[in-house]
Order: sequence, then structure tokens, then C-alpha cells
Amino acid sequence: MINQLSKGLSLCLILLTILSCSERADQSNLEDQTENKIDSLLSLMTIDEKIGQLTLFTSDYDVTGPTMREGYIEDIKSGKVGAIFNAYGVDYTTKLQKIAIEETRLGIPLLFGYDVIHGHKTIFPISLGESSTWDLALIEKAARIAAIEASAEGLHWTFAPMVDISRDPRWGRVSEGSGEDTYLGAAIAKARVRGFQGSDLKETNTILATAKHFAAYGAALAGRDYNTVDMSDRVLRETYLPPFKAALDEGVATFMTSFNEVDGIPASGSKYLLNDILRDEWKFNGFVVTDYTSINEMIAHGFSTDLKNAAEQAINAGVDMDMQGAAYYDHLKELVSESKVSEKTIDQAVRNVLRMKFKLGLFDDPYRYSNKEREQSQVFTKEHLESAREVARASQVLLKNDNVLPISKDVKTIALIGPMGNNRRDLIGSWSAAGDWSKAVTLLEGIKEKLGSNTKIIQVNGSDVEGNDQSEFNRAIAAARNADVVILALGENYWMSGEAASRSNLDLPGVQKELAEAVLKVGKPTVTVLMNGRPLTIEWLDNSSDAILETWFAGTQAGHAIADVLFGDYNPSGKLTMSFPRNVGQIPIFYNNKNTGRPMTDEKYTSKYLDVSNDPLYPFGFGLSYTSFEYNNLKLSADKININDSLKVIVDITNTGDLDGEEVVQLYIQDLVGSVTRPVKELKGFQKIALNSGETKSITFTITEQDLAFYTASMDFKAEAGEFKIFVGGNSRDVIESKFTLNK
Ligand code: GLC
Repeated sequence: MINQLSKGLSLCLILLTILSCSERADQSNLEDQTENKIDSLLSLMTIDEKIGQLTLFTSDYDVTGPTMREGYIEDIKSGKVGAIFNAYGVDYTTKLQKIAIEETRLGIPLLFGYDVIHGHKTIFPISLGESSTWDLALIEKAARIAAIEASAEGLHWTFAPMVDISRDPRWGRVSEGSGEDTYLGAAIAKARVRGFQGSDLKETNTILATAKHFAAYGAALAGRDYNTVDMSDRVLRETYLPPFKAALDEGVATFMTSFNEVDGIPASGSKYLLNDILRDEWKFNGFVVTDYTSINEMIAHGFSTDLKNAAEQAINAGVDMDMQGAAYYDHLKELVSESKVSEKTIDQAVRNVLRMKFKLGLFDDPYRYSNKEREQSQVFTKEHLESAREVARASQVLLKNDNVLPISKDVKTIALIGPMGNNRRDLIGSWSAAGDWSKAVTLLEGIKEKLGSNTKIIQVNGSDVEGNDQSEFNRAIAAARNADVVILALGENYWMSGEAASRSNLDLPGVQKELAEAVLKVGKPTVTVLMNGRPLTIEWLDNSSDAILETWFAGTQAGHAIADVLFGDYNPSGKLTMSFPRNVGQIPIFYNNKNTGRPMTDEKYTSKYLDVSNDPLYPFGFGLSYTSFEYNNLKLSADKININDSLKVIVDITNTGDLDGEEVVQLYIQDLVGSVTRPVKELKGFQKIALNSGETKSITFTITEQDLAFYTASMDFKAEAGEFKIFVGGNSRDVIESKFTLNK
């Protein structure tokens, strides 16, 4: 019997192997077929038509940068532009595509790109908010829905995910990223690429994704956008590049160069980044697009003498497509005629671009994304809105709660005070694509719908977001006096974060602090709801408000999602992915810092400030729940392991509170001694788990050599023998620990 079984099994295995080989053969055949098609097309193309494929212009449908151009329709007609961004909608994209297909010599289809960052029409929380869910499936789902809606409106390509690590909340673009941690940022990058690109780009509800901004844009000096980036190759490779590599490993179709220089070379002119790392080391076979006129900006950087020189540097460094700069459009042909740029280089760039158009199936049917019925049935649907509410709930981070949340639904009178209480425009945040802010649900609407007419709600703005008008303070104080509970709704305008939105001061803008202090003096139970695009300096609020709920810009369903949390229909589970500084002077502040030779103690001559502690107000990974969790019985599968062994880390988590809830169990390591110094902690695992009240679960992590590896003194990426600590907890500060040895 067993013999028969083993024969049957081996037959299955043989069949499986043949199938997988033939599948691989099919796949490689398909790739070969595509390359052959590209060869044929290239052989027909003039140099002008080739340069056209390397040119991306914005339409006048939306503005996302400093320049606009007339005549892009004529450029399409003359085959001098191969992709258009900031144009969406089936009618408009079809109109432009028809020009490219019917009025140009070769009829090469256009690509339509757009910044679909955190939703297309249905807007999800800003990416920093989404990252606070620590829920990769949910983050992938949000990107999937964004792709379904964007592709239904004729788009083929999104300029997302933004995967820039940043440790400086003065930089406004932290709102678009996944926070300060490389490990989490890499995991989220993969989830977002999966969401946007799906499992097969031939599916018409998938879109090309873009890993941006390559590279290290989030390390801009002083948190000032577009500013200089300078760092060791080790920090570049250990902290800033892994999310890009993760996106590439997940199959991301395109990369976008960053505005900044790295080590003196602007990214759009950096052979090191675009050729040595991206192509030679990582074997990337998609295409590289610049950021908005970033080739042109190499002149201002002092790297290029003029636009022709910049074009030469960019194409020879490895930039395939020029966004909006018209540098290739104006100068590439001449550079080829002067043999400063080889046609072979041009052909390779064109090949990279055409490959993606073939992958999308646009040569089979250039109108396959132009379907009116889909546009009418798959955008802003009830299901999508429900998902937006689900993600918005999970993105909220409870920072403080002195027994005032959740608020009882039987509450008689609520005073909703602050400029964000009845605010609609700011809720969908920056980079909100085709989102319609007029359809966002305000916090006031969310509370009203939740509580019905049983509760009286007195809503008073009290102040604007910015400015110094205090004329409504008395009305706000009176409202607080007449209420059982006060909800302060404070924050930033959406444009105070995102691109070109760095702030040197991270306090609440305007007179919101004065408003809050005046209202808090009334002495009623007070919950502060924050709506903002970055960590803020709110130590004064932490000392005075009974509760603080960070909601970021929570998107189209903001009001409902926040009300779900405030009144206990959802137990908050979000965790910070960026540290909240006590004051701006602490920046850059992040959990995985080095110990230094004089780690902080009460002694004078140690690494600290005279006027503030070293620790953040709220640490990376922090977030409270309406219940409580206890960590016990941290066990390791061994106290000594060899290099090729894996280590099991097991820990019990108990929900010790009265409510069911979710916890993000975080695993950190510390390599105590290395050939280069190592951070005091590094996130190497996390699991979001649900626990009913009183329930205990045993969670297991597996640590491998990959988790212990780093760029050693000789820049080899490997683990080194020695002592390690393991930390497990619900944030990067409150942990239980153990240790193990990695043998030589
Ligand atoms: C902007 C942004 C980039 C965006 C591009 C197109 O300047 O830096 O993130 O994708 O231009 O809008």
C-alpha cells in the first residue's frame, strides 16, 4: 500500500515539477515574447518617437507641482509625449488615448499616471495614519480599493507608495509615509505594492505602482523639504533603502527619483543610486521616472551647467522618463547627434517604459481601462466607504485616557469645541487625488448620527486653525460650562503637511492652545481629538486633557470612524509609527537610536539636555486601548544558537481588562556589541492579535540570521556572533526582555 502511495506521490511530484517548469517556461516565454515585440517596435521608431516615450507631461486637470505647459495635446499628436499625469476620468483619458492611437504614426498607447496615495475617490486615512493600524492586510486592502477606483477612471499608474523613512516631523511629507522604522516601512511598502498591482498587471483593476522618492528624501536637513541629504553609505543602506528594496522584491513597476542630493549628487543624476544599486545590485527591470522637473533642478543644485547638460547626466545615470521637465524633449536628440548619449542608452530606457505598457495589456487594447460602466459602478461604492471607515477606525491612536473614554451614549450634553469639530475640507488630508472633500463626514455629523436626538450637542469652533482671533473663546467656555463632557477638536489644516509644508514649530497652530487651556479651566471631563498630518508637540495637552485621541486626517469617513471610537463601538488599536517629541529641540528623535559612550544618567557628563528629558512624549509603537494587556512568560527556544539556526521567541499576552480588544505585539532585538555600534533596539517582528476580555494567547516569533544581520565595519551584510537582547511589548518602551548568544 505504502509503495503504491509513494509511487502516486512521486508521480504527483513529477507532474508538479513539469507543470511548474512549463509554467516558468510560459512565464519566461511570455517575457521573451514581450522583449521581441519591443525589439520590433524599437526598430520602427524614429529618435523623436523614442524620446516621446521618455517624456511625461501633466495635463491641466490637476496641479501637483510648480510648472504647467501648454500644448500637451499637440505633443501627443506628434508622438512627442508617451505618458500624461494628472488626467483621470474615462471620457478625458479616452479622448487623449484616441489621439495617441489614431493620430500618431505608430499608435503607441499613452500611460496615465496620478498621485493615488491614500485612495482615489474614496479617501482613506493619510498614509501615516494607515501605517498606525500596523495591519498589513488592511493597508493592502486600502491600496486595492484605490487601484480599483483609479483604474475604473482610466488610470494605469499611481505615484505611490511613498516609502521614505523619516525621523523628523518638521518635514511635512511624513504624512505620506509609514513613519520612522525601516522594518515596518518595508513591510508596509510590500503591502501597498501588492494592493496597487494586484497579482497580475493584465487585470484591468490593477495599476503600476511607484516606489518613491529614491532615495533618502525623508532625511532632509532640518526637516526642510527638498533640503540636502548627507549620510554614510551604511545608514543609507541600513535605514533608508530597505523599503525600496522591499517594494522591488514585491515587483514594483516603477521608481521615482527624489528631489534631494545624496552625498553631493542629486538623485536624478546619481549613477550610484540608479545604476549601481537599482540595476546592477537589485536587478530592477521596471522604469525610473523623475520627480517633477527634478532634472531641471540639477542646475540649481549646482550639478548641471544647463538643461542640456542635466539631460545628458540624467539619461546616462539611469533616468528613463522625465516628468514635466522637457529636458529630454528639448535636448536628447541633439545629445545623441553629438554622441554624448548613445542611442543604445535611449533604446534601453524606451524598452523599460514599453515593457510596462505591454504588461498592462495596452498594446492588446489601449482602451481596456476606458469603461464607462465600470466607472459608474466601481467608484465611491458603499463597500468602499465601509472599508474606509474600517481603516479609519483602526488608524486612530489613543494617547491618553484617564477614565473618560469611551463616552456613554446616554450622555445628555456634549460641547464640541475647536476648529476641527465641524471641519470638512481638512479631513481627507493632502494628496487626496480625486477625493471630494465635500463628501467627507465631519466629526459633528458622526457624533450626531451616532447619538441621535437623545444628546444635545453644542458645537463651537472657538477659534480658527490658525490666526489669533480669540473672539469666540467666551462662547466656547459657556458651551463647556453647559456640557457634561467636552470634546476638543484641534489640529492642522491639510496643507500644513504634505509636500512643501515643513514647519519649524510643531505646536498646534494659531490660538488653539489658548482656546484649549481656557476650556480645560472649566474643569469638565475633556477628550481631545487631534486631526493632523504629523507628530505635534503637545506635552501641555498631555498634562491637562483627560484623554487624547490621535485621528490624523482620517479620510472620507472620518466623522463616523472617530465617533465609533469615542462612544465605544470600536476599541482603539492603533500604534504610533513616529515618536512624538516633547519639543522641537529633541528632533531628530526616534526609538532605535545609538547608546553613545555616555548614555543618559543623572550624572552631569552624560548625553542629555539641561531642559528636557531624552525620551519622547509618546514612543514609537505606543497606543492605548480601552482594555489592558499583560505580557508574561517570555521564553526563547534556546539561549545559544548557531548562525544558521533560527530562534523561537514565545510570549503570553493576556487581556486583563473588561473589554475585548486588539494588541500589536512588538518584537525588538539589541545586538550588544558589533564591529560597528548597533541601535539600542530594532523592530524585527510584530503581530496584531485580537483578545477577548480575560483571554490569553501565546504568540511565537521566529528570529533568523537575516534579522540579526547588518552592514559590518567591512560593509558586509551579515550577523556577528555575540550577545543579543530580545524585547517584547506593546510599544518600544514598555517591554519585557530576555537574551541569547549567537555562537561564532
Ligand atoms: C510632486 C511630488 C511627487 C509626485 C509628483 C507628481 O512634486 O514630489 O511625490 O508624485 O510631483 O505629482
